[in-house]
This record gives sequence, structure tokens and C-alpha cells, in this order.
Amino acid sequence: MSTQTPAQGMVPAVDFLKVTEQAAIASARWLGRGDNNAADGAAVDAMREEFGKLPISGIVVIGEGEKDEAPELYVGESLGTGGMPCEIAVDPLEGTDLVARGDSGAISICVVGGPGGIMSAPDMYMRKLCVGPSAKGKVDIDAPLAETLDVLAKCYQREIRDLTVVVLDRPRHEKLIEEIRAAGARIRLIPDGDITASMSVGVRGTGDHLYVGIGGSTEGVITAAALECLGGEIQAKMWPRTDEEAAKLAGFGITDPDTKFGIAELAPTPYYVIATGVTDGNLLQGVRYFTDGARTHSIVMDLVANTVQFIDTVHLFSRTITREIRL
Ligand code: FBP
Repeated sequence: MSTQTPAQGMVPAVDFLKVTEQAAIASARWLGRGDNNAADGAAVDAMREEFGKLPISGIVVIGEGEKDEAPELYVGESLGTGGMPCEIAVDPLEGTDLVARGDSGAISICVVGGPGGIMSAPDMYMRKLCVGPSAKGKVDIDAPLAETLDVLAKCYQREIRDLTVVVLDRPRHEKLIEEIRAAGARIRLIPDGDITASMSVGVRGTGDHLYVGIGGSTEGVITAAALECLGGEIQAKMWPRTDEEAAKLAGFGITDPDTKFGIAELAPTPYYVIATGVTDGNLLQGVRYFTDGARTHSIVMDLVANTVQFIDTVHLFSRTITREIRL
């Protein structure tokens, strides 16, 4: 696990916290209202506004899409008022469907890295295997799953039946689910949100031990940065489904789809990873609104200061406080 050397003019990690907090507060208002786009749009607008106030010279390397697809937070967009040079990867709302349905596990997340610090991955599917520090360096994405679970059981000093594997609930994972069941491990099938799920396996107390399956590649890059901060590991392979996607991949210099990626390739020098819960999850609580404001729960992972903070913030909408703030 790397610790980054603080550069002069470094903006501290907590200064970026408002970016995900405000995105979470804006998007959580759309809970259960059946409108993914509105929830996502609210998160994007709030996040971009907050980035716009920071003394950084930031470039989006993972965002809402290419310039012609996304008016805001597009790949290549400059952010900030000028200052600390950095690359930025964002998922303003991971789990748009979760919010639209009023389901758990949605977060807002951003990664801040040094120049060249975050891979600008082509947007397609990616096979991923994620573990926490206990199993780092001991698993292999190419190994049969039963073997991986055997290794994990030893790492966690327990039986396979006492391990929980998190898998996205998708038809493409049918065989994978069968394999996990045959090996005897428990499974937590999630409707969406594999960044949150992967971070969850990197933290003790969540009850999750392994994330495996196929999800988004841009989510994979953000996951890599988060797991670097938590001391865990991701192993990944791009999963192009069409000739067009294979050509896109080749455009990024990746001609062999069997190429393995780890943290070193996906996110070599992240400085900070910051996430705020939008809806309740294993790791973070969702946004709660009250008479005078809202309350958020975030994780701030800082490779410069070498800290991981869980931050509970009360946001007051004005100076008129009509009720006591709760403990
Ligand atoms: P969105 O927040 O963009 O909807 O993505 C949610 C997500 O579940 C990711 O966490 C995951 O990587 C990806 O979608 C999986 O893609 P798909 O829904 O196509 O299986």
C-alpha cells in the first residue's frame, strides 16, 4: 500500500468532502420517486458546483461520459478555480436505480489523484475480483472459485460456509452463483452498486468477504482507488462484448482482452477517495433530512495523511435552528 508524498499547495482531503455530501443530499431527495435521471442529474449538478469552488486544476478522467454524451463532468472537463493539479474520477450517484426504487446501497463517490494517477478506462464491462487486506496477494481471478473460497476461509480463519460473497444479481452471473453455492459459501445478491460492495469487503464488520462478477469498468477504476486506500486488492479483466468494444479497447492500447489489471494499472497514485451514503448500506448510512437540515455519513480515505475517517455531518440549511441537533 502506497502513501503519497504531499505536494506543495495540496488541498486537504476533507475539503473535497462537500462534493460527495452535497451530491448525496441533492440526489437522496429523489428516493423512491421512480426517476433515475432526475436523481443522477441532481447529484451531478451538486457535485460539479462544489468542485467549481475548490482551488484545484482538476481534470475529469472518469465521469459521466465523453464530451458529446455529457454536458457536465465529462471526461476531459476542467474543474476548480485553479491550483492543485489533479485527476478526478467520479460517480456522482452509484446506484441510480437504487434511489429511484428507494432501495439500499447507493453512494456518491469521487477519487482525487496525481497527474497520471487514475486510468481513463474505456467504458464497458469488466470482470472483477475484490478482497480486503486479509486476502490481498493470495487470490487469483483465473483460479476456480472453489479454490478462491478455500484460500479466503484460511485468511479469515473460518469455514467456507461462514464467508459471504457479494454478487450483482444478473443473468450473466448464473453460473458464478451456482459455483459459489456448490462451494458452500453464503451469497449476498445485490441489485446494483458494485463499488460499494467492493469497498464493503475491504472493511471488517460489514460481514462481506469477497466481491466477484462483471460490472462497469469505470466503477472498477474507482474501486481500485478505494481498495488501495483500504489495503485491499482488485483483480480485473475487460469484458468487451462486441467487435466495436474490442476496437475501442484496442484504441486504449489493450489488444488482449485477457490482460489482467490491478491497482497498479487502474489507479496507480490516488490521493483521496471520498464517498457519502445516499441510501442506507452496509458501510454508510443514507441521507437523513430533518426540520432544519440534513445529516450525512461519509468515508474519507486519505493516502497523503494515511488516514481513514468516517464522518457524520449535520448540514444546517440556515442559522435558524428550531430544534436541538441530535447526538
Ligand atoms: P449506475 O449507478 O450507473 O446505475 O450503475 C450501477 C451499477 O450497478 C454499477 O455498480 C455496476 O458496475 C453496473 O451498474 C453494472 O451494470 P449493469 O446494470 O449493466 O449490469
